[in-house]
Amino acid sequence: MSIKDVYAIPPDGSVWTVPQAYDARFNWDYDDGRQTMMHLYRRGVEMQWNAETRIDWSQELDEDNPEQLPEEMLPISGMATYEAMSAKEKAKVRRHFQAWQLSQFMQGEQGALVCAAKIVTQVPDVDSKFYAATQVIDEARHVESYKRLLEKFGVAYPMTPPLQELIDQVLRDDRWDMTYLGMQVVIEGLALAAFQQIRDNAQNPLAAAVNAYVMQDESRHVAFGRLALRDYYPQLTQKERDEREEFLLEASYLMRDRFDAVEVWKTLGLDPAECAAHMYDSGFMQKFRSSLFTRIVPIVKDIGLWGETIRKGYGEMGILEFADADVQALQEEDENIAREFDARRAYVDSVIARAERLEPAE
Ligand SMILES: [Fe+2]
Ligand SMILES: [Fe+2]
Repeated sequence: MSIKDVYAIPPDGSVWTVPQAYDARFNWDYDDGRQTMMHLYRRGVEMQWNAETRIDWSQELDEDNPEQLPEEMLPISGMATYEAMSAKEKAKVRRHFQAWQLSQFMQGEQGALVCAAKIVTQVPDVDSKFYAATQVIDEARHVESYKRLLEKFGVAYPMTPPLQELIDQVLRDDRWDMTYLGMQVVIEGLALAAFQQIRDNAQNPLAAAVNAYVMQDESRHVAFGRLALRDYYPQLTQKERDEREEFLLEASYLMRDRFDAVEVWKTLGLDPAECAAHMYDSGFMQKFRSSLFTRIVPIVKDIGLWGETIRKGYGEMGILEFADADVQALQEEDENIAREFDARRAYVDSVIARAERLEPAE
């Protein structure tokens, strides 16, 4: 099974090229670096895992509802046109929407891979280069994991234009901190919110496990962005911080309003405008937005981009109150849940091993 053979709509060319104009930086100061950054680096090294062995890829997806998600997780459930469909047609809609979402995870992870590599090259401090190097391998493993899961769907989608727009902007910017801000804060926040929906709602053990393990790594990535930017932003002028705040606002609107899966609705011959409108007001999107801004807004405040521009903008969006969310607790929970998945697998393996001992093969 090759992903390129199962795209529901053809991607725009087989490669995407983003021109770059930034300085690769060397640093002759090899001193120990910031303690917190080196601690994060060591954790990044110690917590490496192998997608091939940690995940049981022999598990299969469900025929009618691949990730076995509750019906309300389909953003057009309840829409008259959808409700009038046959069981077979509904199954097709579920498969395509889930595959579209998962495709964005896989494509976005490739964006993260390229951004992490850019950070290694561009960031001035050696301790940050060390940490970002661990993130590069993490992101490669995430692309691999989502690709393997997506192969089981038999259908895939290209990167959706709003995600491509965001990644393009982050990569083109020649200021090193913008890659962090765009990738480690905005896109990782978006990813965590989306992964969490699957991890916490999928009854399919394979789909849930992949997201739990990826999230365990992502929580370190967000911590990395926080650490680096919290040191850097107080050194900038108010005007420079305002520019960053404007970028954040624009990105927040884009994430809130533009991930409407029109590619899926068009592919399935549905009315894209009707589906997008239904999706916008769905319980699925309400939960998603709340999870998204819980992941992003407290970090924005913590790194010191909390001037008038952002407070006014977030006030208008009605998301200021998310600033008080406890991200530390969320990160700990992400780690604990991944460990629970490991424990469950170890238990299942031990039961199988015991059964085999009791009933030796002939
Ligand atoms: Fe990732
Ligand atoms: Fe990441």
